[in-house]
Amino acid sequence: MHTAQKITKVFITRRIPQERLKILSQAGVCKVSLWDSDEPVPKAELLKGVAGAHGLLCLLSDKIDTEVLDAADMYYTVISTLSVGFDHMAMDEIKKRVRVGYTPDVLTDATAELTVALLLATARRLPEGVVEVKNGGWSTWKPLWLCGYGLSGSTVGVIGLGRIGMAIARRLKPFGVKKLLYSGRTAKSYAAEVEGEYVPLDTLVSESDFVVVSCALTPDTQGLCNKDFFCKMKNTAVFINTSRGAVVNQEDLYQALSSGQIACAGLDVTTPEPLPTDHPLLTLKNCVVLPHIGSATYSTRGIMAELSANNLLAGLQGTDMPSELKF
Ligand code: NDP
Ligand code: DGY
Repeated sequence: MHTAQKITKVFITRRIPQERLKILSQAGVCKVSLWDSDEPVPKAELLKGVAGAHGLLCLLSDKIDTEVLDAADMYYTVISTLSVGFDHMAMDEIKKRVRVGYTPDVLTDATAELTVALLLATARRLPEGVVEVKNGGWSTWKPLWLCGYGLSGSTVGVIGLGRIGMAIARRLKPFGVKKLLYSGRTAKSYAAEVEGEYVPLDTLVSESDFVVVSCALTPDTQGLCNKDFFCKMKNTAVFINTSRGAVVNQEDLYQALSSGQIACAGLDVTTPEPLPTDHPLLTLKNCVVLPHIGSATYSTRGIMAELSANNLLAGLQGTDMPSELKF
């Protein structure tokens, strides 16, 4: 008589192009079950999917809390998230139980590029201009019509000069930025490359013409950009957030934008996501909102999917992951 071999099961929470995940089937070490939809997996299905699973490949829209961990029973060995941000996961509990893979670096360029695009679109009022051309508002060339703010000679402040923050700074400097300020928990030696000056947050907020948020969402950064923060900004300043929506108090941002406390804002991330179509921020001409597309290039998303599959596999096999989150 032989004992039945335990089948290694992994659960994937979204439809991800199969060719990017083929390493999992080729390795022949696990049985993959997938929530085969473009929409987020409902909590009940997630709990069912992870029951008895050894590995989970999830997205930033999946809340991985203690209930999800418990539903997986004692089998879990690895969680791989298709994101660099990990604020959707209950890390304090997760780190006691499983290894975690994530996708840093591979999305840095795409996200920095999108941030620059959003900054320019917001500061130079591109969405407003496009609408005016289409609705007949373009009557003639007018000296002050649709004027905005330029980067040349400006002071840019980056909150969180990490991988993406630094990549944003590198891209903005050649636009003629005069001063590059940054804030965070520690000064960075690599900031010298962009002549970055480490300053207290208050200094950054009050001196910058462009405030760019690219920090991680943590208990310390949650709600960081609030009434007090916006009150310190210049009336002519541009606010850009491509980190996480919860870093911003959106009611306070609405007040700052509608009262003229700050000039304009560009957001790639909001709370909640998607932002309801009747949200007050969407009524403002000086607020540009994008649907969380920072890393959305075909190439980047493909590489992210492959990396997350490789992380998952390494976790299942107990080998080094290409990108493991170190706690
Ligand atoms: P990094 O870990 O390289 O950078 C995170 C930065 O956050 C660090 O520089 C860190 O500064 C800073 N930070 C942490 N705590 C604080 C704090 N209390 N005050 C100010 N800064 C702080 O991550 P990445 O650059 O790779 O990614 C950053 C974030 O961007 C992700 O966590 C994710 O939320 C978001 N993101 C959004 C995307 C989009 O599609 N819009 C795409 C990809 C990422 P220090 O080292 O000094 O602590
Ligand atoms: C991340 O990876 O954290 C982004 O928000 C999506 O790429």
